Amino acid sequence: MYTTELQKGAAPAAIANEPRALIDAFEARIAEDAFIEPKDWMPEAYRRTLIRQISQHAHSEVVGMLPEGNWITRAPSLRRKAVLLAKVQDEGGHGLYLYCAAETLGASRGEMIDALHSGRAKYSTIFNYPTLTWADIGAIGWLVDGAAIMNQVPLQRASYGPYARAMVRVCKEESFHQRQGYEIMMVLAKGTDEQRAMAQDALDRWWWPALMMFGPPDDNSPNSEQSMRWRIKRDSNDALRQKFVDVSVPQADYLGLTIPDPDLAWNEARGQYDYGAIDWDEFYAVVAGEGPVAKERIEARRKAWDDNAWVRDAAAAHEARRAARKAA
Ligand SMILES: [Fe+2]
Ligand SMILES: [Fe+2]
Repeated sequence: MYTTELQKGAAPAAIANEPRALIDAFEARIAEDAFIEPKDWMPEAYRRTLIRQISQHAHSEVVGMLPEGNWITRAPSLRRKAVLLAKVQDEGGHGLYLYCAAETLGASRGEMIDALHSGRAKYSTIFNYPTLTWADIGAIGWLVDGAAIMNQVPLQRASYGPYARAMVRVCKEESFHQRQGYEIMMVLAKGTDEQRAMAQDALDRWWWPALMMFGPPDDNSPNSEQSMRWRIKRDSNDALRQKFVDVSVPQADYLGLTIPDPDLAWNEARGQYDYGAIDWDEFYAVVAGEGPVAKERIEARRKAWDDNAWVRDAAAAHEARRAARKAA
């Protein structure tokens, strides 16, 4: 999902010439569930994998502000507007913690942003779908933030300390996001026929992209195994996806809405739901940049970056003057 391996060909090979004693000590710390901290020695491949994962996660948070930011001015009441505003701000904060966590590994903010704007870096596929109605804001909170929680709760015990600690706060906020979305869905689902239809339509459009957020199936997820050994990832894509389906079905039932999957059925023997085939062609097309609003998203990010150049310039000038005063 936010953190799933989307960049192909990036599987970290073991780096030669790293001292065996250091590698052994590192692996022993991982094995005893200890945190790795910024000043600790770490294999280069571990560091690079983390930078890729954390920066991709950060990009997902800030690009994720766009589909919902789109509805702030059109929220149906002052209360909804205040709640949505707070939620979108939280996502900006998540991006900030995560960029900072990546910086502790030696990544530069400028390079990470540049990778996003130039299309080299990936972000979660889910944000390349448009938000067409107010019900989409409900569906996103319920399903997208719900999937985010599923993925991020285990990351609170990820092996890299700054990442794990950022996740603690992020997860608290995500649970508020999930509930505000579900509450919007509840109001619509129990409203007029038109509102109910709007809620159903949003569920129809967001369900499958939400399942894709967990990333490719386990047998096609080349870097998962290494990441699990390093405790950068704690559960497989398919295991998390299954968990998400199992909690979401009763929630949809409670709303009186229908999940758009004719193959969805309770499997008594497994004690889990069976679900239909995911359209992986669509997923890989969106990963490759062909999402319905992919170009618009990156355009919006670039524009925000350019429009706000004066803020960065002013902050840098202020800092330079302060340093000069201090030196004098
Ligand atoms: Fe978030
Ligand atoms: Fe969120």
